[in-house]
Amino acid sequence: MMLTLTDTEKSMLAGKQGRAVQRAMEIVETLGRVYGASRLLPVESVQVAGVSYRNLGEAGLSFIQDWASEGARVCVPTTLNPAGMDMRDWQRMGFSAAFASRQQATIEAYVSMGIQPTCTCTPYLVGNLPGLGEHIAWSESSAVAFANSVLGARTNREGGPSALASAVCGRTADYGLHTDAGRRATHLVEVRCPVHEPHEFAALGYIVGKLAGNGVPYVKGLELSGIDFSEEGRSALVDSIYADSFKLLGAALASSGAVALYHLQGITPEARERKDLLLDKVIKVTVDSLEPAYAALNASEQVIDLVVIGCPHASLQELRAVADAVEGQTLSAMLWVTTSRQVKDRSVELGYVEAIERAGGMVVADGCVVVAPMSELNYHSLATNSAKMAAYALPHSGLLPHLGSLQQCIEAAVSGRWSGCNR
Ligand code: F3S
Repeated sequence: MMLTLTDTEKSMLAGKQGRAVQRAMEIVETLGRVYGASRLLPVESVQVAGVSYRNLGEAGLSFIQDWASEGARVCVPTTLNPAGMDMRDWQRMGFSAAFASRQQATIEAYVSMGIQPTCTCTPYLVGNLPGLGEHIAWSESSAVAFANSVLGARTNREGGPSALASAVCGRTADYGLHTDAGRRATHLVEVRCPVHEPHEFAALGYIVGKLAGNGVPYVKGLELSGIDFSEEGRSALVDSIYADSFKLLGAALASSGAVALYHLQGITPEARERKDLLLDKVIKVTVDSLEPAYAALNASEQVIDLVVIGCPHASLQELRAVADAVEGQTLSAMLWVTTSRQVKDRSVELGYVEAIERAGGMVVADGCVVVAPMSELNYHSLATNSAKMAAYALPHSGLLPHLGSLQQCIEAAVSGRWSGCNR
């Protein structure tokens, strides 16, 4: 298919709006040609990954600084993924001043382009909340899954540079998950085991991600009650008691596989509204047990020295649940609850942060364990309720993983040992 550009897009590509915009348009236009798009689409918002200096290194930081010094400025609301540390409390986490100064320089380069330094993988909890059918260019995989699936917005799983390019030229190419055809389900997943608690959604996501790869799973058999569909579209799901479970599900799907969109029968927007959602040659699979996820994501080591809640970044409800669970406890392992700065600030006002710190834990804003320089610290074994965190703990951070419920994680933080019961 021929990619046709508007006159404005042609002038961007010709450099008439400066070298920075030209570079952005070159990236977006090349992706459009490679993927067979016939046109570019304006985007309403962008979310940029590639923020941790641990991952970027000097080469990545120079790339961003060079683009910024050419005059790159974002033209749509743009938010940032987590950094490798809490931007204020990094010393208390134990990270070096050398890392902190390069991380700070990275954030400054992004801010100079007009990007909001939200440093979160849950932008939809801090005001970047796209609507049904809105075209966006997001790059954090868990946020992409949430935006596509729960909010019904439309984004491919962008890389850091391609998302940044979309932010600078305000366009993305019309292919893949921007199209109706690309959003049809490739896999029909029948769930035949109970899935109720958030960590169970995470375990289910891990299993389905392995089955679906980079496809689009349509999941049936989940028994979810208490969602009020008389509410306006997205708020029915975002405000529901399952919102935290949906983000754990999507994060897991995107980590064991490369799923960027899932449909839940009768629940998610397109699975309520579209009749043509299943591909004619849909692949049918069943999930009878969550055991394979627990078996894969639990190391035999019983000693726990770090517990991480908040992958994806914790919501206010999750902060409250952790604060309630640690009430009156003294922790023997370190507990980190990772979240956005905005949610942390609100949690301070509500007393959740004080309750967690009184027990010996810490609420980490801005950061993510998976992209933190964990080799600077002395942790060996991690417990979490997130299958994404458990799946990435060893390969990305050198930590032995344990996956279980929030309650089991808090028990592990108190005792310093994993209970061994994962269901
Ligand atoms: Fe977010 Fe890091 Fe988890 S980016 S989804 S907290 S691995």
